[in-house]
Amino acid sequence: MKTIVCEQPDQFVLKEKDLPTAGTDQALVRIRRIGICGTDLHAYKGRQPFFSYPRVLGHELSGEIMEIGPNDEGLQAGDPVVIIPYMHCGSCIACRNGKTNCCTKLDLIGVHSDGGMCEVIAHPVSLLMKADGISLEQAAIVECLSIGAHAVRRSELKPQENVLVIGSGPIGLGVMKFAKLAGARVMAMDINDERLAYCSHWAPVDDTINALHNPLERLLALTEGELPAVVFDATGNAQSMMDAFQYTAHGGKLVFVGLVKQELTFNDPEFHKREMTLLSSRNAARVDFQKVMQAMADGLIDTDSYITHRCPFDAMIGEFDSWLKPETGVIKAMVEL
Ligand SMILES: NC(=O)c1ccc[n+]([C@@H]2O[C@H](COP(=O)([O-])OP(=O)(O)OC[C@H]3O[C@@H](n4cnc5c(N)ncnc54)[C@H](O)[C@@H]3O)[C@@H](O)[C@H]2O)c1
Ligand SMILES: [Zn+2]
Ligand SMILES: [Zn+2]
Repeated sequence: MKTIVCEQPDQFVLKEKDLPTAGTDQALVRIRRIGICGTDLHAYKGRQPFFSYPRVLGHELSGEIMEIGPNDEGLQAGDPVVIIPYMHCGSCIACRNGKTNCCTKLDLIGVHSDGGMCEVIAHPVSLLMKADGISLEQAAIVECLSIGAHAVRRSELKPQENVLVIGSGPIGLGVMKFAKLAGARVMAMDINDERLAYCSHWAPVDDTINALHNPLERLLALTEGELPAVVFDATGNAQSMMDAFQYTAHGGKLVFVGLVKQELTFNDPEFHKREMTLLSSRNAARVDFQKVMQAMADGLIDTDSYITHRCPFDAMIGEFDSWLKPETGVIKAMVEL
């Protein structure tokens, strides 16, 4: 079968490999769509820490079941599926507490082990979800949007609450959408006006704030001096994450969805006087995938404009470099098989 291997930074090679065989409790899945995300772009550019090459990338996947044994989920050959790429151990403290998304031994396919940039993968049946009422293309962005659904669930935000989402990339957009669906009044902050304009169209958010122009003043004005009850940071920018402490209301919550490699510091009086809660949010759980799929099936998510670039599998290597360029306006690129 055809497989695209990231041999080393800046180099993809199209190779012919043997078809995998399904192990115990696994199914063979024919890959049909591969969403490309920041993680893939960083791995390709050699900017992903602790990443080893060669590696088959691809973790935002949908496909069709080729071969499957009897199973409790009622899945059959031919079914379209969303592939949950998080392989968890099932026995560590996080898994025992139902938090498989932060398993101590988490193996994200396409990052820690080989992923889906190929024609067929063998994958645990328990990590396949039938893609009912959604297209294969939509199925391939469920994982990316489930990060936002998970962060919103974790925040326990309440309807009508003022919510700020900093960072309007594919991850932040997901947070905005699910915060809106939860009934919050959502403000989007970014340094990129084009992306902010898209947030007003897509989520749609209620207000936008450019972080370069007195953001604290704007926030105070928009919230009658109270500041947002819940702030999410999805920038991947350390300064933004540290600034976010002062954007949070007294008694409020700050949720770090984006992540950085370096250390972060904060001023304790600013933190303490607010009695604020700081949360991190990692990956997503099966319930979050279900939530996203239901919202898509109900027509609540504009996936058409979110997917900005499409290309066939065989043309991906040639196209990939262009998806690294912000001027192409890429939000989500989609590879088709
Ligand atoms: N929690 C998780 O499990 C999870 C999963 C995937 C990605 N991530 C992380 O989420 C973050 C966002 O991912 P993405 O793919 O949307 O990234 P992206 O780079 O496409 O988007 C980031 C956005 O933040 C904006 N931004 C950057 N610096 C800013 C600043 N100082 N103030 C305001 N806005 C600023 C950028 O203009 C951009 O629009 C990354 O750190 C990524 O690693 C987390
Ligand atoms: Zn991703
Ligand atoms: Zn575990």
